[in-house]
Amino acid sequence: MTFQLAEQSAESKTELYGSLAFQLRSLFADERDFIANTANLSSLLYHSLPDLNWAGLYIYKRDELVLGPFQGKPACVRIALGKGVCGTAAEHQQTILVDNVHDFPGHIACDTASNSEIVVPIIKEEKLIGVLDLDSPSIGRFDGEDAQGLNELVRILVESLFLFHSQWRIVINEY
Ligand code: SME
Repeated sequence: MTFQLAEQSAESKTELYGSLAFQLRSLFADERDFIANTANLSSLLYHSLPDLNWAGLYIYKRDELVLGPFQGKPACVRIALGKGVCGTAAEHQQTILVDNVHDFPGHIACDTASNSEIVVPIIKEEKLIGVLDLDSPSIGRFDGEDAQGLNELVRILVESLFLFHSQWRIVINEY
């Protein structure tokens, strides 16, 4: 299969995230593997959204977050619940938008280029699976439309895992 990234000529964020949702569904159409789908999600975001320096996932394993598939520079591997932006979003199971990471108490700096960040929790049947984390070198890069669009993409990811429920359990719980 050759996947051609769509030209991003979208005029609004709504259009952009609509296009990403379409592309994501097509990437997941014949594939249910957790690592493959999360890797493709991080690649799609990194190469389609402007002004990012990192895009990836942390997976919830044995009461902490562990680095998953990502695009960008190597990052810290383990984050405790409640620590940093990722651990806070995971603990409260809420999307967190940080306009300026230097103002966020306990922010974990993996790449000094990062100035703003958004973290979206990945939840299935009220259980935490992990978080999606995007970093930008620009202050105030992310807004409510990004939060809405990314939550929809995470919903599509979670939907893709539902069909392979037993595999999902093995991948998430037994590492
Ligand atoms: N900044 C995050 C850590 C992960 S990196 O940004 C890739 C945090 O504070 O949790």
